[in-house]
Amino acid sequence: MSSSGEAELLHTFKGIPFTTRSSPELLKSLDTFDAREDDVLLVSYPKSGTHWLAGVITKLYTTQVTITSPIEFGDISQLEELNKLSSKRIIPTHLDYNMLPPNFKNKKCKMIYISRNPKDTAVSMFHYYRDNPNLPTVDTWTAFFDLFLKGNVVCGSWFDHFLSWTEHEDEKNILFLFYEDMKKDLPKVIKEITLFLSLNVNDNDIQDICKKSSFSEMKNDTEKENSDPSHTVCALTSNRKLIFRKGAVGDWKNYFTPKQNIRFQEMFNEKMKLSKM
Ligand code: A3P
Repeated sequence: MSSSGEAELLHTFKGIPFTTRSSPELLKSLDTFDAREDDVLLVSYPKSGTHWLAGVITKLYTTQVTITSPIEFGDISQLEELNKLSSKRIIPTHLDYNMLPPNFKNKKCKMIYISRNPKDTAVSMFHYYRDNPNLPTVDTWTAFFDLFLKGNVVCGSWFDHFLSWTEHEDEKNILFLFYEDMKKDLPKVIKEITLFLSLNVNDNDIQDICKKSSFSEMKNDTEKENSDPSHTVCALTSNRKLIFRKGAVGDWKNYFTPKQNIRFQEMFNEKMKLSKM
């Protein structure tokens, strides 16, 4: 990576770059983490709509649930905190499928994977690199584009992450969602989530949840909040004000040059040959 501050901010675990907000000790201990059958995992590559989905899901429950910090966030004490939690846990994570604690797989916990057009994800992540002090700085879009294509960014290659999860697309305990579908028809996606989670939510409540989960509502709510450094939905920041940038589909067209688009498309076609999705 050619960006400044990298040495202090990033470290690599099992070949994947993490920020120092995920301690190596915690990452080493993930394999022994004890899952509960009713845990729900909210999985994403960064900048795919994690906070949006988390906001929607917490509004669907009438019983007490806790959206925890990501399983890979903090030091080893965070795992003890998770163990102590008495309520049902909704656990966000940016982990690759292969790094997920095996107990979640063995217990067939429900998992929701949200993804987004990787070109928009790349642009969103470029801004995150520029605005988020927990990430190295990057000078230009051109420089970031190269890092993204090489998978030389935090959480590694988008392609590898997506493929590691979509290899499991036939497993009944994993629901795959797309950011673009949420933009197009949020009530429909919410119905799909309620069916998957076996929740009973009527149409009026769904409409209400859609209103409260709009980009502008969520952004406004965040402006009024004080951030809690010990809690976050994304391991890369506890400052939600960095999250609500534009919330649009197709912003990549304002950044990609025609040449970059061809390079990206070639890489996409090559990598996605392996995906049935
Ligand atoms: P942009 O940077 O393109 O605006 P994550 O939560 O995984 O970090 O993803 C952040 C992206 O989701 C940001 O994209 C953010 O604006 C967008 N987002 C967050 N809440 C949203 C909402 N309610 N509606 C649409 N997009 C939203």
